[in-house]
Amino acid sequence: VAVDKAGHRHFMLKEIYEQPTVLSDCLRHYSDGTAVTIREGELDFAQTDRLILVACGTAHYACLVAKYWFEQLAGLPCDVDIASEFRYREPPVSDRATALFVSQSGETADTLAALRYARDKAARIVSVVNVPESSIARDSDLALPILAGVEVGVASTKAFMNQLGALAHLAILAARQRGRIDSAREAELLGTLRSLPGLINQALALEPQIEAQTRRLAEAQSVLFLGRGAMFPMALEGALKLKEISYIHAEGYASGELKHGPIALVDKSVPVVVLAPRDGLFDKTVSNMQEVMAREGRVWLVTDAEGGRLAGDGVWHRLVMPTVDPVFAPMLYAVPAQLIAYHTALHKGTDVDQPRNLAKSVTVE
Ligand code: G6P
Repeated sequence: VAVDKAGHRHFMLKEIYEQPTVLSDCLRHYSDGTAVTIREGELDFAQTDRLILVACGTAHYACLVAKYWFEQLAGLPCDVDIASEFRYREPPVSDRATALFVSQSGETADTLAALRYARDKAARIVSVVNVPESSIARDSDLALPILAGVEVGVASTKAFMNQLGALAHLAILAARQRGRIDSAREAELLGTLRSLPGLINQALALEPQIEAQTRRLAEAQSVLFLGRGAMFPMALEGALKLKEISYIHAEGYASGELKHGPIALVDKSVPVVVLAPRDGLFDKTVSNMQEVMAREGRVWLVTDAEGGRLAGDGVWHRLVMPTVDPVFAPMLYAVPAQLIAYHTALHKGTDVDQPRNLAKSVTVE
């Protein structure tokens, strides 16, 4: 399919802006607004004793976010693995396990090999793919499309968003099938998901502010991203996006791990991006932020908390996000993470759509 930039300077920016639309398509595909519409019988999470999520790159981070959902909403034990590790480690896989493979292209060599390993162990094979006619989809018992449309930018944006969209529905389905939620709670969770495209539009409106704030970020040699709970994998994804397209060294860390190593890096030359929606762990993250500031680290706080100490007095930058139910906050916070990477790369003058040394789809080992 031929696609153009639709007036945007890069495919990546176009794809970032497509997110409200493609996410809406995905949400409509997987629910009627009050119930998940994946047919019972297609997938049975009540009969499975373990979910194994396997992927590479950005899709792996989508799996790490989904682990929080499957465990917290559905009480389903969940392992997440990088495909290249999973395939060679010879992990035990029970025939009651469900193995879920997430891949934008559906052709990543390591993910496909990991799938075949799990299939040989007689696990049920489910995939979440953007290309329905791909090898990974073909080799699955059930292939679920994410409906993101063609993604051209090497750094994945809208596919990540829609991977999360599809995985959120699977977690809600699992919660229902495992008797963890009633239909009212299911409708409430789906309602929250349906509010996301509008909130994503509001987050996109922060772009001019992000453009200005990244001017200084582009001068950094090294950047840390911090998050807690399901925002921890978002911190990993934020760091990955930044290093992929701006070539600035970046690391994502769980906020609580800061004192176990990365704080040694902190001084006034190291910006620390803190992804911290106002949730039950927010106060703990504020403490971590203060540890950074006490060492002259420059904190860029991305949050919906406003006012007083909790808004982060003394922070370097603050980006005020729309408020979202913390369960699905990672989906919303993907947007500033993407725009931070994009604008930092623009300031540096790198090739955003085709970063050096990277390929869109890695079909060889
Ligand atoms: C490459 C791409 C990444 C992508 C990863 C996995 O490294 O540059 O953007 O996340 O492969 O690709 P897949 O198609 O399996 O999602």
